[in-house]
Amino acid sequence: MTRRTIAGAVIAWQRRHGRSGLPWQHTRDTYRVWLSEVMLQQTQVATVLEYYPRFLARFPDVRALAAAPLDDVLALWSGLGYYSRARNLHRCAQAVVAAHGGAFPASSAVLATLPGIGRSTAAAIAAFCFGERAAILDGNVKRVLTRVLGFDGDLARAAEERRLWAEAEVLMPASDVDVYTQGLMDLGATVCSRRKPDCLRCPLAPRCVARADGTAERYPVKTRRLARGRRCHVLLWLRRGDRHFLVRRAEQGVWAGLWSLPEHEDPAAVEAVVKGWPGEGRWLPTIEHALTHFDWTLQPLQWTLPARARPPADLPPGRWARREEALALGLPAPVRVLLEA
Ligand code: ADE
Repeated sequence: MTRRTIAGAVIAWQRRHGRSGLPWQHTRDTYRVWLSEVMLQQTQVATVLEYYPRFLARFPDVRALAAAPLDDVLALWSGLGYYSRARNLHRCAQAVVAAHGGAFPASSAVLATLPGIGRSTAAAIAAFCFGERAAILDGNVKRVLTRVLGFDGDLARAAEERRLWAEAEVLMPASDVDVYTQGLMDLGATVCSRRKPDCLRCPLAPRCVARADGTAERYPVKTRRLARGRRCHVLLWLRRGDRHFLVRRAEQGVWAGLWSLPEHEDPAAVEAVVKGWPGEGRWLPTIEHALTHFDWTLQPLQWTLPARARPPADLPPGRWARREEALALGLPAPVRVLLEA
């Protein structure tokens, strides 16, 4: 199999076996394609299928999104995770309206200057909407290409990453770049999985170096793996009558900008705070929440103040919200689950 036949094989496979009929396919509407690509960056298709129509119903075009309050955007994003995506989405919509007259720029190079659109996402949008010949290289595609080519350069090094980008460009077909691009993504997502790739279904198996060597799981090579950490905190769920106390999280860090419950270092710290408050508390079952860089153990302490009591004077800045009001805000998924229960 030569380089040209690699692209040909991907295109033929995509036409027969790739995903089709998803709501963001068969359109060249940049707003719809962009939204789907940002949602799909770190989220599986099955989940995006739930969020995408809801989001479009609320924000049917880029102007509607740009004009919306950030809180409304975060609320609709709640549960998708990686909230910087939602904030960048909002900023990007505003940039498209303010700097580009409400139309997404029609080239990958200019798309890549917008918030939240990296080189690979820009290329995917340009390939799908304008048929531009621009190479993609997201996590899934890195896995496919490094295996097929036997590319064992360390992708933690910028020079090796650049070299792989160059390979991705050489592999591109002269035409049907949109089908090819979708084919690479779908191969990576469905056949060429991280563990136990399904090589029998892979159109590239006949020329795949990793398959020949039986070394698929060694690719892609990346040395600087982040050590996963573990953290433990207390969430204070303060209730008074039909209201719940929420605080806005910092603009940086985990769940940045979302509304959440006040967080405390440990049980001793929270007990020092609630000591002397009227009402009563009870510990709820611990929540285990996995984030990219660490596993988080959250211990919720539910504290119920008497309905007529004054709110304690030593609360941080925040708001008292009814349940429905709270659920309409951008909340972290575990906090949403708590409030819904
Ligand atoms: N991941 C990112 N973009 C995607 C797409 N268009 N199809 C499937 N997976 C993707």
